[in-house]
Amino acid sequence: MLADKDRIFTNVYGFQHWGLDASRQRGDWDNTKGLMAKSQDDIIEEIKASGLRGRGGAGFPTGMKWSFMPKESKDGRPSFLVINADESEPGSCKDREIIRHDPHKLIEGALIAGYAMRARAAYIYIRGEYIREAETLQAAIDEAYQAKLIGNNASGTGYDFDVFMHRGAGAYICGEETAMIESLEGKKGQPRLKPPFPAGAGLYGCPTTVNNVESIAVVPTILRRGASWFSSFGREGNKGTKLFQISGHVNTPCVVEEAMSITFEELIEKHCGGIRGGWDNLLAVIPGGSSVPLVPGEQIRNAFMDFDGLKELGSGLGTAGVIVMDKSTDIVRAISRLSYFYKHESCGQCTPCREGTGWMWRVMERLRVGESSSAEIDMLYQVTKQVEGHTICALGDAAAWPIQGLLKHFRPELERRIAEREGSLQEAAE
Ligand code: NAI
Ligand code: SF4
Repeated sequence: MLADKDRIFTNVYGFQHWGLDASRQRGDWDNTKGLMAKSQDDIIEEIKASGLRGRGGAGFPTGMKWSFMPKESKDGRPSFLVINADESEPGSCKDREIIRHDPHKLIEGALIAGYAMRARAAYIYIRGEYIREAETLQAAIDEAYQAKLIGNNASGTGYDFDVFMHRGAGAYICGEETAMIESLEGKKGQPRLKPPFPAGAGLYGCPTTVNNVESIAVVPTILRRGASWFSSFGREGNKGTKLFQISGHVNTPCVVEEAMSITFEELIEKHCGGIRGGWDNLLAVIPGGSSVPLVPGEQIRNAFMDFDGLKELGSGLGTAGVIVMDKSTDIVRAISRLSYFYKHESCGQCTPCREGTGWMWRVMERLRVGESSSAEIDMLYQVTKQVEGHTICALGDAAAWPIQGLLKHFRPELERRIAEREGSLQEAAE
């Protein structure tokens, strides 16, 4: 179990105030100027050495992403950092806790990351539903300006850096990085084709890096304590500490920072008081926010909660939004509800996603009540395969994968419902 002294987010439960004075007592903004005395390239190398991988779900190496940014401005164009706080995925709620209780970690991280990438400003795009969080974040940004920590000559470094907060309007798809950029530009939030990646052509056509809130908020601590400290947690390729968000049928759901690669059992026993009704009552787990396939309970108990451990089980770490379902769950209904979410949130730009998400949801709804056939289960699988990998952004994959997980692990349950309905129809006819 991670020792308290190794926790980055020491105020994740909000026992102390989020404001500047209390944040300073927790170590934030401590000699930021000294941290920024390193060269930009040295900071990027330190982040690479720490092994930090993007905490928004995809796990792309953060230092490598930063190194794609140009070292010199072309045609006088500025570079930008965009921070993705549009946390909208079912099961994911860690960025909310950072913004509520530790916003200065994020703002200090924005300054240091922005400096390392030679960015002129950071735009923090926060989901529209996070109303109180947006108020806290703006108040923290104002405090940082007043204390001259950001703005012109930020933290006395001679570096000019602005931080702007932008509120979304409730569209899940604006969490996709290029849709977010479109939205920031004042357009309809629809994903762009990649490449070009944002480092080549991002906000207003300028070099841009989009990073998740948690990825940025851990940066000051990594630089203060050193890359080797951060990389001492977790397994090779899966380093550092991570905020896990455990919801559903555990005794005490929570958001908790733990070392990467902790086993599922240890995570649940140490922090959540175990599974409701005991381990025999565990049905399935969606371990990474709703975009990853579910894993049957008996397979996940000893799994390492990291990118590779969950990939081996055919799932993923995603945001580490762990959704636990016990045997009281109607698993078909749960996945059908998720498929409705993706249908509702599809931006409609590409045909496989626009049409496919609707198809998948309608078939799922019929499977839920057994109004289907075995052949249609196979057909549904084929539809998920037609959507997966054939769309502009990852929403198509995210809509297909939970259904694939259900078909892979719970096909007998689907067939049982079909047989049960056929039986009762036959009975009624006799
Ligand atoms: P992605 O794998 O396409 O990209 C991840 C990051 O790496 C992006 O910033 C991208 O620009 C960069 N990248 C990837 N390949 C690159 C290359 N060759 N050159 C330069 N940069 C490159 O994944 P995406 O679509 O950004 O994110 C999908 C993930 O987001 C899902 O796995 C899901 O877990 C997560 N997600 C999180 C949500 C939340 O609320 N936090 C909501 C929905 C999805
Ligand atoms: Fe829009 Fe879906 Fe295509 Fe993404 S995959 S661009 S959400 S239609």
